[in-house]
Amino acid sequence: MNEATSPKRVALVTGGIGGLGSEICRQLAQAGRRVIAVDLAARDERIGAFRQEMADVADTVTFEPGDISDFDSCQQLIARIEQQHGGVDILVNAAGITRDASLRKMTPQQWHELMQVNLDGVFNMCRNTIEGMTTRGFGRIVNISSVNGQTGQFGQTNYSAAKAGVHGFSMALARETARKGVTVNTVSPGYCDTPMVAAVAAEVRAQIIAGIPVGRLGSPADIARAVCFLAADDAGYITGANLPVNGGYFMSF
Ligand code: CAA
Repeated sequence: MNEATSPKRVALVTGGIGGLGSEICRQLAQAGRRVIAVDLAARDERIGAFRQEMADVADTVTFEPGDISDFDSCQQLIARIEQQHGGVDILVNAAGITRDASLRKMTPQQWHELMQVNLDGVFNMCRNTIEGMTTRGFGRIVNISSVNGQTGQFGQTNYSAAKAGVHGFSMALARETARKGVTVNTVSPGYCDTPMVAAVAAEVRAQIIAGIPVGRLGSPADIARAVCFLAADDAGYITGANLPVNGGYFMSF
């Protein structure tokens, strides 16, 4: 069954109005999914801009406020979506933050804040959607990891640990749900043209770009393409995998 003949799947994207998330929403909508973008309600200006950007797919993309670092808030959000839309079929965990500092300078707050979003957030969302997916016999979970989870990055012990953890989590969950029609994979972006990467010091960024074989930053569209591929109905034999999308920045076998 392909997208054209399958039922209209409901896709939830965390960090849905962010640098990568908003393009993931767009491409999922263009692939015929009903899309719910979840992000912090506090990001008022960005929510308005997101609505404008999604004008051409406005009938299939909606915004839901939610704090993925809070388990109870996730539970309530998923219950609401299940009532309104009949359950989440595709979950894309794209919410992520950085709190860069070398370990000798990193505060416990920088460590915990990052873990609460980048790792606890994945647990909170998966834990609250998994029962529905396995009961219905269909699910696609795509967790956004990072090349820096694979290689480690100077100044990112917290981020690298969380992103490596996201892949370990995904492989374990993939085993638990493999017989239930639910796949769980990660996409590991390299350095992309997003506000998160723009925040890196210019000279550090220039050095990184010089080391990318393709010779440019990735675009959010490059990442969204990989997410949509893994979220497709006919991608059911790919599970527990990591799909690197990094312009050749890190190659492994
Ligand atoms: N590589 C190698 N050496 C580095 C370095 C780096 N990236 N950054 C700092 N150093 C060196 C300095 O040259 C200095 O050396 P000396 O002591 O010999 O003079 C020493 O380390 C300074 O150490 P500090 O603890 O004082 O580090 P700092 O405060 O100067 O820098 C940092 C810390 C700002 C986090 C910096 O390391 C940095 O910018 N790192 C890169 C962060 C990064 O790439 N973030 C990615 C964000 S985007 C993202 O994460 C998306 C994704 O998934 C790809």
